[in-house]
Amino acid sequence: MERDLSCEQSRAASEKDGDLVTDKENLHGRLLAATDWDQQWNVWFDRYSAGTPRFGIWIRSLGFPQSTRSLEIGAGSARDSRYLCSVFKNATAVDFSATAIDCLARCSTPSNFRAVCADAGNLPFPDREFDLSFARGFVGLFSTAEATSKIVEQARVTKSCMLVGLHNLHNLRLRDSFDEKRRNDSLYNVSFYSRSEGIGLVRSALAGGSREFRIDALKFGSPLFNRISRSTWMPDWMLRKSALADVWSPIRLAENLVIRVDFV
Ligand SMILES: C[S@@+](CC[C@H](N)C(=O)[O-])C[C@H]1O[C@@H](n2cnc3c(N)ncnc32)[C@H](O)[C@@H]1O
Repeated sequence: MERDLSCEQSRAASEKDGDLVTDKENLHGRLLAATDWDQQWNVWFDRYSAGTPRFGIWIRSLGFPQSTRSLEIGAGSARDSRYLCSVFKNATAVDFSATAIDCLARCSTPSNFRAVCADAGNLPFPDREFDLSFARGFVGLFSTAEATSKIVEQARVTKSCMLVGLHNLHNLRLRDSFDEKRRNDSLYNVSFYSRSEGIGLVRSALAGGSREFRIDALKFGSPLFNRISRSTWMPDWMLRKSALADVWSPIRLAENLVIRVDFV
């Protein structure tokens, strides 16, 4: 009941402010330790692995060159990186859950895929090691300060482009369904971000650095794109067309806002 009330209050405040704001600092009941995630992956790894790598398909639609070396942070099942191996020169997946990494070691994976057990706050890679880095369903686990330090570390190992996928606060239906589910399942206990909050978070994380960058918020996971992208293999021209479903869909229908940073 209390939770419902606070949601309503935050929505009322949001409407008044002309923007949507949620509390990013209440981490009570969140999955934060590697052992929390070990338990999750013991149960869910096979199911996640069998799911369509929608985010990987969407990344492919952005048209990065074949020579791309990609990094996924907080990869879990790494289904997206495993898919991207067939598109890019190589793909690296990082997670701090030893169970997730063990499960990946037992899967048959292409030779240009590697899984590394490491904390996202202290990645075992040199500066600018990867052309492209991405994280989805990851930054929303943390407080603003923690999220900021993870983004700074992601930027350190990224040469050209980084993508930060955040749950979309403009999608009120999705947020309400997470509010309902999080009562019984910590997996749904994540922060949602509005467009301006997401851009603000990443921009301020990078502001202390010396690199110049362009920043934008893209939409991912509209119902139409999800339907079309069920097939992992479609020609590039068809994929580019299907990705337009996300570009044209209203922001309230997107599952994620993906903050894209291009270093110049
Ligand atoms: C929601 S899951 C991501 C799922 C993944 N995108 C997939 O499709 O399978 C979040 C992941 O972040 C990982 N994680 C959380 N905190 C981390 C940290 N500090 N360093 C590295 N990985 C972390 C968890 O172990 C978990 O696998």
